[in-house]
Amino acid sequence: MEQLLQQIEEVKQEMAAFEATNNEQAEAFRIKFLGTKGVVKGIMGEMMQVPVDQKKEFGQLLNSFKTFAEERYEALKNGLQSAEEQSGATDFDWTLPGDATPVGTRHPLSLVRNQMVSIFKKLGFAVAEGPEIEDDWHNFTALNLPEHHPARDMQDTFYLHKNPDFLLRTHTSSVQARVLEKQKPPVRIICPGRVYRNETISARAHCFFHQVEGLYVDEHVSFADLKQTLYFFVQEMFGKEAKIRFRPSYFPFTEPSAEMDISCTVCGGSGCSLCKHTGWVEILGCGMVHPKMLENFNIDSNKFTGFAFGMGVERICQLKYRINDLRLYSQNDIRFLRQFTGAL
Ligand code: DAH
Repeated sequence: MEQLLQQIEEVKQEMAAFEATNNEQAEAFRIKFLGTKGVVKGIMGEMMQVPVDQKKEFGQLLNSFKTFAEERYEALKNGLQSAEEQSGATDFDWTLPGDATPVGTRHPLSLVRNQMVSIFKKLGFAVAEGPEIEDDWHNFTALNLPEHHPARDMQDTFYLHKNPDFLLRTHTSSVQARVLEKQKPPVRIICPGRVYRNETISARAHCFFHQVEGLYVDEHVSFADLKQTLYFFVQEMFGKEAKIRFRPSYFPFTEPSAEMDISCTVCGGSGCSLCKHTGWVEILGCGMVHPKMLENFNIDSNKFTGFAFGMGVERICQLKYRINDLRLYSQNDIRFLRQFTGAL
């Protein structure tokens, strides 16, 4: 008996002193002490010789001896693991190629809008925004389109069913009214945004589209300033060879009013189907802010003058990327959208 107890004590000391610096050594521990022919098994076998009255006490002793061996083995393995973690040595192969994260592309309309904003920012224009659900005053009346004005019919309007005093804005000119009621001149803003019209959807018309509105009000603002501003924009957007021309037009909120064409970006002016063989494509409406409109916001029209313009983002995008069907912009066809990789 005594001999067995002493043997257990010695084995415990041996196990406690055992060190493992790699997996093989830990495995050697397992085989030596815990294996089928190992030391622990051998000592357990001695149980047979223990007298019956001591079996219980001895059984407990042997069990705790076995647990000691197992815990020591676990501790050796864990020690290896944490040493591995500390040194950073794992089975992971850092030289494997990574999983590429697919990068999306910007919508072409966002690309063009962002570019428009950055061009006008160079000239000192700030960005202003207004609501898409507008009231009659900001969308029409303040812009010199009183009730029953025939020009209201030019823009087929969506009215809100529950309250027809409200509508979906038909142009971003409504933001001019929003800004002028809050800010006194000098005002120099552009307003990019979505607008809505009650149109049947086709390749050339849609019930929603995007505009960028511009407004500059200060002392001594002239039509020459308007022309130079728009010429700068066109050259930045379409390149130095792009030409512009103005045609007289009518808008209730500007006087005089004009429409501006640029030389066709597809044929360069020689005539093609995009420019209907004229060499020119209309891109915007503009003019000098109507004095009545300034008076609507208590701005002295003898002291202040201004110019305004409004253009469609889809049209600029069409000329830049040759997109001939408006419906493509909102169909979410990934094959279409993937082609645009601009940085803006
Ligand atoms: N609001 C006009 C439209 O949607 C475009 C426009 C024309 C805006 C002349 C202007 C302007 O600011 O001066 O057709």
